[in-house]
Amino acid sequence: MRVSLLAKPLPAADGDVLIVGSYADEKRLPEPLARLDRALGGRLGEVLEAEKFQGKPGQLTHLYADGRLPAKRVVVVGLGARGQLTPETIRRAAATGVRRARDLGARVVSIEVLGDTLPPEQRARAVVGGALLGTYSFDRYKREKPDKGVEELRLVEPDTRRGRELKAAIHLGTTFAEATAFARDLVNAPANEVTPTYLAKAATQIAREGRLKLRVYDRTECEKMGMGAFLGVAAGSEQPPKFIHLTYSPSGRARRKVAIVGKGVTFDSGGLDLKPADGMLRMKNDMAGAAAVLAVMRALPPLRPSVEVHAIVAATENMVSGKAQRPGDIVRAMNGVTIEIGNTDAEGRLTLADALAYTVARVKPTEIVDLATLTGACVVALGSLCAGLLTTSQPLADRLRAAADLVGERVWQLPLIDEYKDGLKSDVADINNVGPRGGGAINAAIFMREFTGDVPWVHLDIAGPAFSDRDLPLGPKGATGFGVRTLLAYLLELK
Ligand code: BES
Ligand code: MG
Ligand code: ZN
Repeated sequence: MRVSLLAKPLPAADGDVLIVGSYADEKRLPEPLARLDRALGGRLGEVLEAEKFQGKPGQLTHLYADGRLPAKRVVVVGLGARGQLTPETIRRAAATGVRRARDLGARVVSIEVLGDTLPPEQRARAVVGGALLGTYSFDRYKREKPDKGVEELRLVEPDTRRGRELKAAIHLGTTFAEATAFARDLVNAPANEVTPTYLAKAATQIAREGRLKLRVYDRTECEKMGMGAFLGVAAGSEQPPKFIHLTYSPSGRARRKVAIVGKGVTFDSGGLDLKPADGMLRMKNDMAGAAAVLAVMRALPPLRPSVEVHAIVAATENMVSGKAQRPGDIVRAMNGVTIEIGNTDAEGRLTLADALAYTVARVKPTEIVDLATLTGACVVALGSLCAGLLTTSQPLADRLRAAADLVGERVWQLPLIDEYKDGLKSDVADINNVGPRGGGAINAAIFMREFTGDVPWVHLDIAGPAFSDRDLPLGPKGATGFGVRTLLAYLLELK
């Protein structure tokens, strides 16, 4: 979908569909809807009245312009109460409107910069983001592809003085949404295609296109670095593990050095502590953290943030075979900590242990943010629409949460409770990789904290929101690309 600016008043906008927004509980049609209504000979007001259109978020109606406008049809989307307008309401309204336009067979769509209470560039960003995220589809493996869909989206803004800001907003909106789609594609593609080698190749391409620095370590090199925890997980798989390290450096002096670490288990069978069938079915998504950090790295060069960013992914499968790691095995991580394998299905924290230890020792960042589909317990605690956030640095957590709020991704902080470390005691090693059932998301984070040294660290458990079993306002069921937009907003320090 191409996105551009259209410098015309709303009633003069052409296209197959013109999308406009309407607030809830307004007695008269506000400008510029009133003008549009006059151009339509009062028919807009009539239709809204007849359909008892209240302008609630998610509500939608459309009418045929009957030659009274350059646009063929008008789609009206609800924005809720004017005083409560948020970027997320706008994103969802734009998504609903553009999906309807698509279903009406539209190729060229004009859309109002919805709402009027927030700064126009913020609203424009949200409109573009919502339109692109909401029309995402994954049909690479289908013989019958859906129809072409919307090819051109024009943001209608009559005031030409706003051109520059709005173009920048369009760039941000499209880049964020395209990065999210890239992550969704990686997660939606099956595990027989997306192997650790595939992720390494994706990283190679990202490095080439964006002129980033890349190191990919193979099994032997990981052995030399002492990554026993990561390699223990990889032991049962025919697929060779890959340890990926991508670096973006800004052109000027970097103000900070941020490490983003993604869990990259391309398939999680559970290992010898095998998952039951229904629990295993979606485990191709166990690399959603890796997909998110790779997508972020791909988006950074065109966005040019002024911080240095390192992406770290310890990519492997968690499989069963005669070579697979056993419950009761003891492995040694890169920082020397020995780990008793209490459960082979708690593999994510093992791969992350070495990813974090490597990051602390080799990258020496000012802060670490990791994204991991880590625990079913976090899904039990927060459901499928919210990530768990655990941290050793409250200021860092606050900045990350502000970024998440801005892009409409939900995160909720869980406490790192020191005493729970007792639950990870091992009789034979420094630490066990599992603790008691209660507080599973916290136990996992307490385990990981052992490998973060004294670097300020935020852990996002995205097991719930990385994947959806049903259609969402901003995308179809399947991978969501959760975390991509939060990280980008965080790195760009967007307000
Ligand atoms: N990849 C899973 C976590 C997961 C569960 C992600 C559901 C998405 C949806 C992780 O590797 C895992 O298996 N965790 C175990 C840990 C347990 C053995 C301590 C879990 O959550 O059951
Ligand atoms: Mg597991
Ligand atoms: Zn896993």
